[in-house]
Amino acid sequence: MSMQSHMLRCTGCAQRIAGEAARSDFRCPDCGDLYEVEYPWSESASGTTAKDVPVNRPNPFALRHLWQERRTSTLAVDQSGVWRFRDLLPIVADDQAITLREGNTPLYELPKSAAALGMNWLLAKHQGMNPTGSFKDTGMTAALSVAVSRGFEWVACASTGNTSAAMAAYAARAGLRSMVLIPEGKIAWGKLSQSMDYGSMTVQLRTDFDGCVRVLTELVRRAPIYLLNSVNPYRLEGQKTPAFEMLEQTDWQVPHHVIVPGGNLANCAALGKGFAEMKHLGFISRVPKISVIQAEGANPLYRAMQANGGESLEPVVAETRASAIQIGNPASWRKTVRILKANGGWCEQVNEREIALAKAEIGAEGIGCEPASAVTLAGLKKLVAAGHVGREETAVLLLTGHTLKDPEYTIQYHRGQLFNEAELAAATPGELNQHKAFQKAPLVLDANVDDVLRALDAIAATAGQTA
Ligand code: F0G
Repeated sequence: MSMQSHMLRCTGCAQRIAGEAARSDFRCPDCGDLYEVEYPWSESASGTTAKDVPVNRPNPFALRHLWQERRTSTLAVDQSGVWRFRDLLPIVADDQAITLREGNTPLYELPKSAAALGMNWLLAKHQGMNPTGSFKDTGMTAALSVAVSRGFEWVACASTGNTSAAMAAYAARAGLRSMVLIPEGKIAWGKLSQSMDYGSMTVQLRTDFDGCVRVLTELVRRAPIYLLNSVNPYRLEGQKTPAFEMLEQTDWQVPHHVIVPGGNLANCAALGKGFAEMKHLGFISRVPKISVIQAEGANPLYRAMQANGGESLEPVVAETRASAIQIGNPASWRKTVRILKANGGWCEQVNEREIALAKAEIGAEGIGCEPASAVTLAGLKKLVAAGHVGREETAVLLLTGHTLKDPEYTIQYHRGQLFNEAELAAATPGELNQHKAFQKAPLVLDANVDDVLRALDAIAATAGQTA
């Protein structure tokens, strides 16, 4: 695929550059905003191509068929749930795609959570079912393939743990060297172990995520290292594909709402781009509302929307146990504000107790997710209570990470050790009972059957009382 297959368009001042011409930090030299990938058929490109150059507009009917057909192919690019949509992300040649067969993730029903909310239909798109256990794989396969095609030997990212795990894995597959910058003591063990396992140079900096980003931005200015944070617009090309998949999985019935967690705020922008492209090309006739949920202790977008409708954003010092979204100065906030405005979604915040309860509820559906993903259900409860999401409407929660990413959190929760005294004091008795109903701390017993049977009887008796 030739590099002229796309341009980078500044989302701030609309200036266009060739893909190779981007600065190392992927910021527009004129206005400082971020780029997005633009194709000749993109809505924003209409009127920019010479009149006598025909634009090959993708055909929805042919593509829907082709994308399904590829699922049965034995080719790696066809088996990938990102690259089987490559007609709409022609950023590298087919044989340059570095893939771990990412994507093709399940869309589950959440019947218990739906019933608790009085909703007819609640779904979860589980992006934690990707090769490295998070949604980052879909973006990483895209941007890392570009790094290879551009001849880089080193790639790097700053991360709260999932991006680093994904980058390390894809770099290993491609034979590239990789460096991850992570905030010391602030990422979950599962994620830290992954970057080492995949052979990355793992650097723990004595700072937070936002501090890691500052160091990395300077680093890529001084050394020939390809930046793989989500300011890299190619990441979003991969991360838009779950929108396509979700539509396939609902038989092209557009859900009313998609709910995503908000950290660095690229994922909302990516999905928004995906849905907008589907509408522009005629696959669907309307787009879903996309709402972003932040943790109360890491809520710069929520504050900005409340204070000034997203005109400006004040960074915060972020603090939440949902470590994946412990981000105070999100890079892609402007892109996400545009999606919220274009699609008509909301930004909500949820506290630590609400996150933990929602995570337990998703776990009790037999699905499980990491804490940052559970903000979606916690936020949905607020959106329903506020009347923003109707009980007869369809909502899809984007579960971004696998429960095994952060088992320490889950164990502490079930042992009743997660919350501090102030949090417990702030909880109502009703809320504490809700937590108790979910908490399943492990029993330690002597190794004899009578003891186990007695424990079973005790559990059956309490179940009887609550039934
Ligand atoms: N959920 C999980 C599990 C994440 O790892 C992240 C971001 C998000 C949600 C938020 O997505 O940043 O696009 O708004 N994790 C990044 C990382 C920052 O380094 O792994 P976002």
